[in-house]
Amino acid sequence: MHQVRMQVLWFISTSALLFSEAQASLYGESTLNHSCVLSPNILSCSSGADPTQVDTCCVETYGGLVLSTQFWDTYTGLEDQGQLLPKDSWTLHGLWPDFCNGSYTGYCDLSRQYDPDPSPATTDDGTEIPPYTGPNIGTFLEPFGKYDLLEWMNTYWIAQGQPNADFWGHEFSKHGTCYSTFDTPCYGPQYNNTPHVDVLDFFEAAVLYFRRLPTWEWLADAGITPSNATDVSYSISDIQGVLAEQYGAVPYVGCSGSRYNETEAGSGTTDNGRTALSEVWYYSHVYGRPQDGHSVPVNASGSTTSCATSVGAISYFERADGSTRLM
Ligand SMILES: *[C@@H]1O[C@H](CO)[C@@H](O)[C@H](O)[C@H]1NC(C)=O
Ligand SMILES: *[C@@H]1O[C@H](CO)[C@@H](O)[C@H](O)[C@H]1NC(C)=O
Ligand SMILES: *[C@@H]1O[C@H](CO)[C@@H](O)[C@H](O)[C@H]1NC(C)=O
Ligand SMILES: *[C@@H]1O[C@H](CO)[C@@H](O)[C@H](O)[C@H]1NC(C)=O
Ligand SMILES: *[C@@H]1O[C@H](CO)[C@@H](O)[C@H](O)[C@H]1NC(C)=O
Repeated sequence: MHQVRMQVLWFISTSALLFSEAQASLYGESTLNHSCVLSPNILSCSSGADPTQVDTCCVETYGGLVLSTQFWDTYTGLEDQGQLLPKDSWTLHGLWPDFCNGSYTGYCDLSRQYDPDPSPATTDDGTEIPPYTGPNIGTFLEPFGKYDLLEWMNTYWIAQGQPNADFWGHEFSKHGTCYSTFDTPCYGPQYNNTPHVDVLDFFEAAVLYFRRLPTWEWLADAGITPSNATDVSYSISDIQGVLAEQYGAVPYVGCSGSRYNETEAGSGTTDNGRTALSEVWYYSHVYGRPQDGHSVPVNASGSTTSCATSVGAISYFERADGSTRLM
């Protein structure tokens, strides 16, 4: 009798555990003990960051190469709705968890799909990603009373061609769901009572990293400021050199616009890089939880720029009239 009873209890508790993990966990964590206070601060992408050896809620073991990414746009396309760019500042793009080898994946947890316009439209294994149609992800911050954070995000985390909150939903669901440390069981058994605390945590982490990386000031201090004058142009080596010196490692610098070989100045050259400065990606490894911001700059992996490399090939355009919010 006793024996049978034990087996029944064992069966119930085991199946409850399996059930809750299948429902909520990407990486197989339990919802217990993830305060991380007793966890050593292991560096992501180091040999110690082994998911079989550490608490994956306390050490980033999935996307350990963390990229804090920024945009330089000259307009938003939604100026008539008050969606403007911050004067004298770049804007936040995201906080991405690349694999340690520099490749990445996206949309890792479709139970947290808040992107109205998934891009790409399928996961790496070909599963279709359903467009999100619920209340925008910005509303998730309201029960927490985080209106100050929302105001900051509407000032510095600005989308082009779509409402800001749709872009935030994209960043969270495409990238935020691929961290081991932002996985829902990491928030403990109370997660269901405070849904979306993971979203809040991710947004606060993205803001923390962005605020330490004042790209506009770093460039301006070196005399590199936006200008539409035809006789003002810059070299990617100077731009990247200034940012690398300030950051402590070489960031990726991205350009959009015309290819240099298709401009008048570059005609006849083989330099087919693009010519309008548009993005910077700052790479790091992180000790412990990325949320805590203990990051170590590392050089960009792979190609470090999409910009033209010829001397004086790069334009750093001024914002369009009426696209800027005075700060
Ligand atoms: C929680 O932490 C305590 C103290 O380190 C430990 O004894 C216990 O086994 C942990 N429980 C789980 C489920 O990890
Ligand atoms: C990079 O690492 C990921 C995760 O470990 C792995 O799935 C992928 O195959 C690796 N890619 C390459 C090009 O090695
Ligand atoms: C510029 O480079 C691109 C990409 O390599 C190439 O497709 C294009 O034909 C080139 N244009 C000219 C004018 O050489
Ligand atoms: C990072 O890049 C810089 C500039 O190319 C180089 O001097 C430095 O050695 C690199 N650091 C590492 C760790 O590879
Ligand atoms: C500067 O040039 C960019 C790129 O062509 C354009 O979007 C922007 O409106 C221009 N700004 C001003 C103030 O003319």
